[in-house]
Amino acid sequence: MKRDLISLEDFSREEILSLLKMSALLKRDRASHGDHLRGKAVGLLFQKPSNRTRVSFEVGVFQLGGKCLYLGPEEINLGVRESTADVAKTLSRYLDAIVARTFRHQDVIDLARHAAIPVINGLSDMYHPCQSLTDIFSIEEKLGTTQGVVLGYVGDGNNNVCHSLLLGCAKAGIHTQVATPKGYEPDPKVVRLAKSLAQATGASIRLTHSPKDAVAGADVIYSDVWVSMGQEKQAQKRLKDFKGFQINGKLVKGAKDNFIFMHCLPAHRGQEVTADVIDGKHSIVFDQAENRLHVQKAIMVFLIEKSRH
Ligand code: CP
Ligand code: NVA
Repeated sequence: MKRDLISLEDFSREEILSLLKMSALLKRDRASHGDHLRGKAVGLLFQKPSNRTRVSFEVGVFQLGGKCLYLGPEEINLGVRESTADVAKTLSRYLDAIVARTFRHQDVIDLARHAAIPVINGLSDMYHPCQSLTDIFSIEEKLGTTQGVVLGYVGDGNNNVCHSLLLGCAKAGIHTQVATPKGYEPDPKVVRLAKSLAQATGASIRLTHSPKDAVAGADVIYSDVWVSMGQEKQAQKRLKDFKGFQINGKLVKGAKDNFIFMHCLPAHRGQEVTADVIDGKHSIVFDQAENRLHVQKAIMVFLIEKSRH
């Protein structure tokens, strides 16, 4: 049966651990599995712009010996030029996997439901699972473990990156401390799910409105933009509402001395983070960006392999 990656619920803890091992192997040896996608094609069905996701998937498919096609909104305008179901059924006749970047999360679910091939969520308004799998990999790479690590997230809790981090951290045994302005808390459904997943690993989840409390004792400080793709019309209000939730030199003093700073990128210096932090010695943001390549290669190897049986 074919498998998809729509959210981190789709992968068990054991599968995540084996995926991280495979990612490390693919990072050590970029030529490994060089024939794995020979004769296979992967479509990037993107309704929003992208640097990291697009380029790392394209290069990843190339390194695995396959062919990648970018299908932007001008070619396939999901649900407008053609129904999502018809797009999924048609692409399944040509391709071996789809990476989808959408606005509505339901579009990724519908694509996966109607496609006969694996569908990978390359970011929807609700989740960004490729990002958080990479984040877990990067934390383990830098800190040697994920179990018991404390991650402080400051900013928009009700977005794709924070939602996926909550699920990923719960599965990896990472304690999360999330600080948001009032009204920007993570979706309560995601928090409930993360709390139930955390029971298996002992991870804790704390929500607060105090950035200081979120970074207290943190091994990892994480931030994302205040205005996500598709929210441009709310920009002015958001910039006002998020004042006080900036990660800067003063705030990070509350973290552990050897904390690491992470950001999914793109970043806005002077908004969610100051230049001295994101460009400073604690920042690992470009290692994190590089790791998207290795982890996504592992995701493709894993899903295409599983879907064969
Ligand atoms: N972090 C991330 O997904 O970056 P892009 O939006 O550039 O792909
Ligand atoms: N929350 C951001 C993440 C970008 C990778 C957005 O959706 O725009």
